[in-house]
Amino acid sequence: MMSKEEKDEKSVEKEATPEKPKFKVSGGRLIIEHKKIAEKMKNIKHKIVIMSGKGGVGKTTVAVNLAFAFAWKGYQVGILDADIHGPDVPKMLGVEGQHPMGGPMGIFPVIGPLNIKVMSMELLLKDPKTPIIWRGPLKMKVIEQFLSDVIWTALDFLICDLPPGTGDEPLSIMQLIPELDGIIIVTTPQDVALLDVKKAITMAKQLNVRVLGVIENMAGFICPHCGKKTYIFGVGGGEEAAKEMNVPFLGRLPLDMRIREVSDQGKPFIVEHPDSEAAKSFMQIVEKIEEELGIKI
Ligand SMILES: Nc1ncnc2c1ncn2[C@@H]1O[C@H](COP(=O)(O)OP(=O)(O)OP(=O)(O)O)[C@@H](O)[C@H]1O
Ligand SMILES: [Mg+2]
Repeated sequence: MMSKEEKDEKSVEKEATPEKPKFKVSGGRLIIEHKKIAEKMKNIKHKIVIMSGKGGVGKTTVAVNLAFAFAWKGYQVGILDADIHGPDVPKMLGVEGQHPMGGPMGIFPVIGPLNIKVMSMELLLKDPKTPIIWRGPLKMKVIEQFLSDVIWTALDFLICDLPPGTGDEPLSIMQLIPELDGIIIVTTPQDVALLDVKKAITMAKQLNVRVLGVIENMAGFICPHCGKKTYIFGVGGGEEAAKEMNVPFLGRLPLDMRIREVSDQGKPFIVEHPDSEAAKSFMQIVEKIEEELGIKI
């Protein structure tokens, strides 16, 4: 006859099938152990999530341009668009309207500029104009499928773009991605945005996820006519918030009309305008991230 312990062990074994994830505390972090996800992500060296407290502060722009900057340096990069309602990554990478190939082993990401691998809800929709009207549990299921079914193969970096705020998507992503390196928080410098930055940092801390740093976007606008710099949203707020919350500050990016223009065209900004202040800032931010992660190519 089986002892109680043996029975318990058997039932735990049964629970740990690829389809049936279980909760586990790892490195002080509550994660959802999911064998299929672990298998699909085992060849990804670094996983970084881009988050913000507020909408429209430039998360997707930063996610895409960091992907470009890492790829430009020679890293193998993938980008996962976990914004289910507003998937903007494919447009900014110029792969909008393409469809991923699927097979029995899973689904292959679409290949964008600089060989960046891309997966997004937008690529799976027949008509990208169709709005996704889903509640939390359904969105969580899709994120779980993105993580467990996409065949990324070997990557140096997987960058994950999120919708704004501290809702279902960031929670799922932070709990499901195994060995997550950390999150980067994007903010604009004004007070109303900074309040929300602190919430995002607090969420990460509560989930025991490392905050790799804060990026201040739209800090200063250089007039293309007279060359004078105007701080439309102020400056320095992101750095102060980072200091106050005791997390690294990764750098600031200016408002530059060309960022919006090339993003709309799906082209890599740093390649199109390598000598601009913004492109140099992106490259410096990448170096800071390398420093934080202790890596160098
Ligand atoms: N530094 C910048 N200079 C000029 N335009 C910028 C800059 N950063 C972002 N933008 C533009 O601002 C708009 C909003 O940026 P983006 O979509 O990246 O924000 P987001 O935080 O991802 O928004 P959402 O919360 O809706 O996902 C875009 O049109 C983008 O091109
Ligand atoms: Mg976005």
